[in-house]
Amino acid sequence: MAIEQPATRPANPRFSSGPCAKPPTFDVTKLADAALGRSHRAAIGKDKLKAAIEGTREVLGIPADYKIGIVPASDTGAVEMALWSLLGERKVEMLAWESFGSGWVTDVVKQLKIDAEVKTADYGQIVDLASVDCNNDVVFTWNGTTAGVRVPNADWIADDREGLTICDATSAAFAMDLPWDKLDVTTFSWQKVLGGEAAHGMLILSPRAVERLESYTPAWPLPKIFRLTKGGKLIDGIFTGATINTPSMLAVEDYLFALDWARSVGGLKGLIARADANAQAVFDFCDANDWIANLAEDDATRSNTSVCLKFTDDRIKDGAAFAKAVAKRLENENIALDIGAYRDAPAGLRIWCGGTVETADIEAMLPWLAWAFEAEIEAQA
Ligand SMILES: Cc1ncc(COP(=O)(O)O)c(C=O)c1O
Repeated sequence: MAIEQPATRPANPRFSSGPCAKPPTFDVTKLADAALGRSHRAAIGKDKLKAAIEGTREVLGIPADYKIGIVPASDTGAVEMALWSLLGERKVEMLAWESFGSGWVTDVVKQLKIDAEVKTADYGQIVDLASVDCNNDVVFTWNGTTAGVRVPNADWIADDREGLTICDATSAAFAMDLPWDKLDVTTFSWQKVLGGEAAHGMLILSPRAVERLESYTPAWPLPKIFRLTKGGKLIDGIFTGATINTPSMLAVEDYLFALDWARSVGGLKGLIARADANAQAVFDFCDANDWIANLAEDDATRSNTSVCLKFTDDRIKDGAAFAKAVAKRLENENIALDIGAYRDAPAGLRIWCGGTVETADIEAMLPWLAWAFEAEIEAQA
């Protein structure tokens, strides 16, 4: 029996967890003012890079005494710069509950060969944050994008810590409240919550992180692309728009557009509200349907950006094949693109709920998910 398709379709089927949907008002003509074909060191380029830095500070509410740099190689570049430049001075705790956090563990333990204390949890769970000693350097991911599990708060980070907290916040910045006083190093990429372009990473340093950079030299060599200091002093230019190497001025223009759009929806508060409303629509759908559930086991850790779902119906024979087939049906109908679970994550779906996604599109997509589920159950039988 053919299962009837819902009547309403999402206006935008883009629910990818990165690169994420562009802001709803985006079109390429909005980038016409990009400083293309000009030196990024000319006044026009420098001014735009500075505007990207100060716009980030304004929208995210980053304290005036924190440094914000635009660095190469997206979020990965920003995290690697921090790990390679800062670690090794004291004991390190590595926290991981999904693939990106695990990637940072590998780098620190296998590449830097630091004898770190590694705390891990399975997909859907989170490590015991109360056991973390913040007199050590602590590396963690605010929102584990591939598990849809985020830290519930920063209460576990001591105000009087001696170590540095190094936080990969790429799928959290612009969707979650980040308590800057608890974060010494924070990174994100433009391609995530604001729907910008990849290529550049943002590296945000607290005064204590700067102090470490200026007082400690790692035992290993640092390539130019990672170097944040010269002669024991922070290279201040990196944090005022004089980038280490050549940035894409098209990507910069796109980020400036995204920041303007963020302001137009009420800044950080507005962005958080949009992500919360999107995620809540998915949570409600899971509550109403007993064949699907959030991968996050504790509601307090459920992501409001990368919402990860698992199928829980006994009739499903091959979980991975089933989830793939459901995602494929939705893609074929142009209802939802790129919503398969991350390759290393448990079988299921991942629906991006960051602020560039319209709640009406999430609400229009969910009945189609029910349709695809029923159709696939029938096909499997
Ligand atoms: C938590 C986390 N860290 C790092 C990355 C890598 O980001 P990028 O590709 O922008 O370097 C991602 C990308 O999805 C991520 O979700």
